[in-house]
Order: sequence, then C-alpha cells, then structure tokens
Amino acid sequence: KKITLSVIKADIGGFVGHSNVHPECLETAGGILAGSPLLIDYHVTHVGDDINLIMTHELGKNSGEIHELAWNTFLSCTAVAKKLKLYGAGQDLLADSFSGNVKGMGPGVAEMEFEERTSEPVIVYMADKTEPGAWNYPIYKMFADPFNTIGLIIDPKMHGGFLFEVRDLIDNKKVTFSCPEEIYDMLVFIGAPGRYCIKSVYQKGTNEIAATSSTQRLNLMAGRYVGKDDPVLIVRCQSGFPAVGEALEPFANPHMVSGWMRGSHSGPLMPVSVNTSSPTRFDGPPRVVALGFQLADGKLHGPQDFFADVSYDLARQKANEIANYIRSMGPFEPHRLHLDEMEYTTMPDVSKRLKDRFEKVE
Ligand code: F6R
Ligand code: MG
Ligand code: MG
Repeated sequence: KKITLSVIKADIGGFVGHSNVHPECLETAGGILAGSPLLIDYHVTHVGDDINLIMTHELGKNSGEIHELAWNTFLSCTAVAKKLKLYGAGQDLLADSFSGNVKGMGPGVAEMEFEERTSEPVIVYMADKTEPGAWNYPIYKMFADPFNTIGLIIDPKMHGGFLFEVRDLIDNKKVTFSCPEEIYDMLVFIGAPGRYCIKSVYQKGTNEIAATSSTQRLNLMAGRYVGKDDPVLIVRCQSGFPAVGEALEPFANPHMVSGWMRGSHSGPLMPVSVNTSSPTRFDGPPRVVALGFQLADGKLHGPQDFFADVSYDLARQKANEIANYIRSMGPFEPHRLHLDEMEYTTMPDVSKRLKDRFEKVE
C-alpha cells in the first residue's frame, strides 16, 4: 500500500504585515482538513506568513481532489483574512477558480508517494522570505557532501550515491545528475539557485524517492510581483537515507539566500522553531523550520520541532552577525540583489525620467 505525503502552502494574508499567520486562519484550515474524508492524517502549521498543510492520503501525487481540498482550504482562510483585513489577503491565490491542480495557481507544492518502510522518519522543511533555490545548498550537503553526511562514506546503503533531478525554472526543463560522479557538472547549475533548483533526489539502484521540494516561482507565474515563492522540502531519513542529524546538519551554517526585504536582498537563512519563525528585522532575516514526523500507516506522529534545540543557538547568533554586517551595505549589492533578481524595482521609471540627462560618452 502506497502512502502520499503532500505539503501544500500559501500566503493568504499576513498578521502583522508579512510577519505571521493569524491564529484564526490556522484554526479554519485545521477545521476543514479535520472534516475531510480524503485524508489519513494532517498537520496544519506555519512558517512566518505562510500556512503549511501537511497531509497524508492514498490518492497519489497531483491528485485533483487533494489539490482542490487545499485550494478550498486556502479560500476559506482568505475569507477570514479579508474579514480581519489581514495584510495581502489572498495574495498567493492567483487564479479565480480551481482548475484541477494547484500547480501554476500560486500555492507551493511538494509531494512524494512511497511504500512506508518498517519505520518511516521524515522531515518537512519550510522557509519564509526566500525562494526554492534556497534548498540547493542544504540538499547538496545532505546527499552529496561527505563532510556533512558521513553515511556517504561508511554506510554501505548510501555509498553508491544519489540521483539529483534539477529543474531550469526559466526554460522549464529538467536534467538528472548521477552523484558523486557528476558533482562538478551539477554544481555549475545548482550554484545558481535563482534559476536552477534541485527538485528531487532518488536513491541510486532502487530509485526510491529520498527528497522533493517545491519549485514554483510565483513572480514568474504572475508576471508581476506578488510575494516571494517561499519554498517547502520533504526529506526521508535513516536506513539508506541521511540520518535525521545528517539532514539537519547543513542548517548549522546559515547560508546566504535570496529574498528578505521586498524579495530583493541577500541574507542568511536562520534555523528557528515554529514559534519563533516570524521574520521581523528588515522583514527577516529569512527563516527555516524543520518538523520531524514518524509515519505509521499514514498517521503523522509528531512534530518534533528540531530547530528549537539549543544546538542551533550558534547558527542563529552567526545568522544575526551576518545579518548585521550585510545590512550595513544598505542599498548596495551584494546585499541588494542583482538587477535581474529584484522583485521590486523603480529602474524603468527612473531611467525614463532621466533619459535626456544621459549623454553619450565618446
Ligand atoms: C518579502 C516580503 C516583504 C514585503 C515588504 C513590502 O518577501 O514579503 O518584505 O515585500 O513588506 O510589502 P508591501 O509592498 O506589500 O508593502
Ligand atoms: Mg506575505
Ligand atoms: Mg512568506
């Protein structure tokens, strides 16, 4: 019997500003999922201003029924957000009506279908104020870097390596790299996370799904700025996959990601608990939460809020120090993103106004 784990998220309105989700929205979502006969189990949570629906069922990936359930849940939450005049109510619901699949409609989706192992530990990662490419660095560390994951060296079940499916979000193409043999080729692409994103990782030999992420780019879909495409990631752990601790280890070093204020800045990704996941300083710094679950016949036992642990205190301190330093750059790159990557810009207007002031230099 196969179980599907679906994580579907959307920002349907912030409380206050773009910082958090109002409790009434979470209650509304929980009430709707509790009443659905489609689900085996669910957990409603949030990171910053994004509502995350973590759901298990037997309907497979891309199920129209599950996506419609998520869509309708977000619509009901939007009604609450509108009533409370929350900030940006309904911002991620780009379509007027549901058309069979939430992909391309605004919400972010990560789903995997698998036969539950004797024991099935999974981690659901959720980030706010950043983009899908933010997962490239940690996924690479988990599944391809022996300095992070000792299992790649000393666990016979991991020693063969993993297959990485990489998406080109601009040209809408995909390519699969076999690692470790092709890490140098792969890094050419995934080192540019604004365009190339690791979509999924598979165990070599068995082709078992090991990790999968959401790769929507909301700003490209909408053709105008509508908020960051804050991403989610699911990783299966232990017994041939990274140990829980190997899957958490990359976040002990806060890497730089794109997002933060107005989706237009570079900053450190700070690991935090759900309750401390609301970005405040300069609408940030970007946050990541990791929730662990043991699956048992599709039931979600958990969560363990991993980054609540004191062993991430130094990562948070380092992230604060990096934030302090890079904030001192103000409107200068590389704190401010490169012109092509900014989600807010006044460049066309200002250039137009100053057009006649620019003289040709001989
Ligand atoms: C970034 C983000 C916020 C907003 C900022 C301005 O992803 O959500 O930093 O971009 O608060 O928001 P508006 O333009 O809605 O006032
Ligand atoms: Mg928002
Ligand atoms: Mg958000």
